[in-house]
Amino acid sequence: MSREIFIDTASLEDVVLWHRRGIVDGVTTNQKIFLNEGSVDFQERVCAICDAVPHAPVSVELTEHSAEALAAEALIYSGWRPNIVIKVPMTTDGMGLQVIAALARVGVQSNATVMMTAAQLILAARAGASYVSHFFNRARDAGEDSCMEIARARHFLDAGGYRTKIIAGSIRSPRDVVEAFSAGADIVTIPPKILEAMLHHPKTVETLREFDLAWEEFRRRADQSLLPAPNGSQTKRQGARTKKVEVISKPTG
Ligand code: E4P
Repeated sequence: MSREIFIDTASLEDVVLWHRRGIVDGVTTNQKIFLNEGSVDFQERVCAICDAVPHAPVSVELTEHSAEALAAEALIYSGWRPNIVIKVPMTTDGMGLQVIAALARVGVQSNATVMMTAAQLILAARAGASYVSHFFNRARDAGEDSCMEIARARHFLDAGGYRTKIIAGSIRSPRDVVEAFSAGADIVTIPPKILEAMLHHPKTVETLREFDLAWEEFRRRADQSLLPAPNGSQTKRQGARTKKVEVISKPTG
């Protein structure tokens, strides 16, 4: 069982930003997420995201409607970049399972998606999916107990010695992230705006302001600083040898 954070977006800027912040273990996309990006070239954007995080799995969703067409689409995407994972919808006619099984036989990684129950996750894992995605809030909208469904799927996977990872998607608040991990998700895929929200607490802002003011006052009284003076001269406490830490504040590309 792992504990990873994926980013649920097709925004290259957000992928790069959160990768720099040390957060992106993987990326998930879907048709609606791409619609939010406006008129971008699909293949170019997918490849740019894959190149920005070359060691992270990037899920790209299939859109066709027959087993043959889905398999053909999967082969096209998986040829674009080695870190592409094929997102296969859990269709109620079993076609999705058939495609997952076919991909597993030829060693293509898949992410079974749009699932609401442990029963669906169990089938997808058994068919050979590398990742099984539970839609945390959409399932709740339908009256499911999402934490219970994840916990039951977790138990099945652990008892059966599966390497399949559970992804919790459809995340709408920081609390969902914590609940999904507590229930046993290996991965939570989080939209950028929820990642931003996870950073915030009013008391954190208030406390930092208090500390800043205290530090200003301390420096005023003691007349000392660890940072270089504006003219480049060394302060009395600064060590001779310092490591360089590069922080890029603006993402490029
Ligand atoms: C997960 O892989 C999906 O992209 C995503 O979380 C979908 O959820 P939503 O459409 O409810 O936001």
